[in-house]
Amino acid sequence: MFAFLASTVPFIALAHAAQCSLRLDAQPDNAQVPFATAPSPAVPSQTTTAGAGLPSITPFDYSRTKVRGVNLGGWFVLEPWITPSIFEQAGNENIVDEFTLGQMMDPDAAQALLKSHWQSWITEDDFAAISAAGLNHVRIPIGYWSVPLPSSATNTSTSTAPYTPGAWPYILRALSWSRKHGIHVILDLHGAPGSQNGYDNSGQRTSTPVWGVNPSNITRTIDTLRWLTQNVGGMIDTIELLNEAAGFIGQNWADAIRQFWLDGYDAVRAVEPPTTTETPLGVMIGDAFLGLQAWTNFLTPPRGESVLLDLHSYQIFSDLELNRTLSDHVTFACTTTLPSLTTFASSNVWTVVGEWSTALTDCAKWLNGRGSGARWDGTWFPQGNPTTMVHGSCDGFTGNWTSFSDDYLSMLRQWWEVQVEIAEAAQGWIYWTWKTESADEWSYQKGLEGGWIPQDPTERKFPNICGH
Ligand SMILES: *[C@@H]1O[C@H](CO)[C@@H](O)[C@H](O)[C@H]1NC(C)=O
Ligand SMILES: *[C@@H]1O[C@H](CO)[C@@H](O)[C@H](O)[C@H]1NC(C)=O
Ligand SMILES: *[C@@H]1O[C@H](CO)[C@@H](O)[C@H](O)[C@H]1NC(C)=O
Ligand SMILES: *[C@@H]1O[C@H](CO)[C@@H](O)[C@H](O)[C@H]1NC(C)=O
Repeated sequence: MFAFLASTVPFIALAHAAQCSLRLDAQPDNAQVPFATAPSPAVPSQTTTAGAGLPSITPFDYSRTKVRGVNLGGWFVLEPWITPSIFEQAGNENIVDEFTLGQMMDPDAAQALLKSHWQSWITEDDFAAISAAGLNHVRIPIGYWSVPLPSSATNTSTSTAPYTPGAWPYILRALSWSRKHGIHVILDLHGAPGSQNGYDNSGQRTSTPVWGVNPSNITRTIDTLRWLTQNVGGMIDTIELLNEAAGFIGQNWADAIRQFWLDGYDAVRAVEPPTTTETPLGVMIGDAFLGLQAWTNFLTPPRGESVLLDLHSYQIFSDLELNRTLSDHVTFACTTTLPSLTTFASSNVWTVVGEWSTALTDCAKWLNGRGSGARWDGTWFPQGNPTTMVHGSCDGFTGNWTSFSDDYLSMLRQWWEVQVEIAEAAQGWIYWTWKTESADEWSYQKGLEGGWIPQDPTERKFPNICGH
């Protein structure tokens, strides 16, 4: 089943050095469909002449150019709030994430549902629109279960059960489309075995994630990163070792994550050594919710080369933050986020705000999980906390933007601009997320349509918003 690997791996391992000119080995559409049982998605034109139609792309220079990008959320890792219709179609309210979808649905039905989603949620037109919006990056979240890790590449299990495999050809096609449209890629391992945070967006919503305390799950993650680097390192600018590892769970998790960043970095660099003549493959770590200061002097040169830190910045996941007016949000961002970000980025590793949005509430349906309400309107009490505040009605804050008020649209614009300004004081930003089914306040695509996100990301209606 994985016989093709023996011959392709050594060849592809050379690809990053040749990143500036795309070669046969980096052309996924004709040859590299790792599952005999997963037909290659239909791909126009590029199936006969390898490399034809794909322009070369200069490796992204994070030291000189600001990252401006979008996440392709909800594509290869489902999230109920991004695509509620998938979960509604799954026909069982206990299906709350991709893990339970695989566990509780008939396998053929799950495969059909997901395949149609992989095929249609993001298409080549989206890559063209992303490029036309002046963006230079996509961050592509993937789950470990979509990576066809062969048993020759790991001493751990390669079972993906209960997850539904089969996304890999679509991931390859996404990398190919990125290249074709001149968009740089951060490939983001968003779901690890055992779950690194227990969030539905790790694949598994659970109050007892085990990744951080399970050495074999961590080893499998490292083996997955090594295999990804070998196989698609030449198609991407940066590999993100793991999304939102939950360092807050306890000191044992914090310690495990720290060691994992080092080991993951070394695994990638063993395949892709940094050189002085090429832009090395970027390796992205995260702050693990421990704050930037926890990572002072960590993986800085010479121990780490071309390392990036992914900071996620939201002000809506606590009552304290939801209680802020727009003016309070802006003040907090300008006086707290901005100085801590710039201080860290100027003397440590490149720092990118890899997730943020214009949402000012947690009102989006199922944002807090399928079946959960919102803190904003008092319909969800995460800790069963009787002192939970009610901030207002959710009406008009989420859903179809055509019903948003002019005041709200102006707030969204201002909130977009201040966050862009702050992130560009470091290495830049990647908005969460390009597309949603019904939460337009989170959608970059709808922001462009509704005008609260400018078609030219350098345009300002609120210049010098932080007053400097
Ligand atoms: C698996 O174990 C063998 C024997 O200890 C070792 O040589 C090999 O490198 C291991 N493979 C991986 C991918 O760790
Ligand atoms: C995580 O580790 C446990 C314990 O070794 C193992 O039983 C489980 O299969 C692992 N999970 C995955 C998805 O590999
Ligand atoms: C919420 O904001 C109001 C008005 O600024 C303030 O009086 C109150 O203490 C705040 N509550 C919390 C929990 O932060
Ligand atoms: C949003 O509302 C407009 C105006 O009623 C409508 O044309 C459009 O189809 C709606 N969009 C969605 C996704 O429902």
